[in-house]
Amino acid sequence: MAGVVSAACGPTPPSGIDAGLDAGPQLPCDVGAVLRTRCQPCHGAPPTQGAPFPLLTQADFQATYFSSTVRAAALEALRTDFMPLGGPPLNAADKAVLVDWLDAGVPLGTTNCP
Ligand code: HEC
Repeated sequence: MAGVVSAACGPTPPSGIDAGLDAGPQLPCDVGAVLRTRCQPCHGAPPTQGAPFPLLTQADFQATYFSSTVRAAALEALRTDFMPLGGPPLNAADKAVLVDWLDAGVPLGTTNCP
């Protein structure tokens, strides 16, 4: 039967995001880490310092923003170094993590993050 949970304490979650996360589906761990340190200080819940929206969940990025989406606006903001506001700009590795993920359509992660 579907729904049987086994080996939940094993070293590898059996099927990623369905493996019993309390907090709901997660973003990929590397994406979450960059957002946490470089974006969520302003784009948190609730947003602070004048930031127009939170950047916490997949749905936050899929949301409509003017005639586009937060996802598209974020790509533009990263490519132009408009964000993080006030700098310093993301280093190349962190920027690539976010840009690749935004380009890929903000997919959820497949593993539990530490
Ligand atoms: C220091 C606070 C701060 C940080 C850190 C920050 N933002 Fe922002 N963000 C803002 C503010 C304030 C605005 C509104 C700016 C405006 O409208 O002029 C904004 C606007 C935006 C917008 C909308 C831009 C547009 O086209 O209107 C996006 C997308 C965005 N931020 C993404 C990000 C991302 C991604 C990060 C992390 C890499 C980030 N921000 C980090 C404060 C911040």
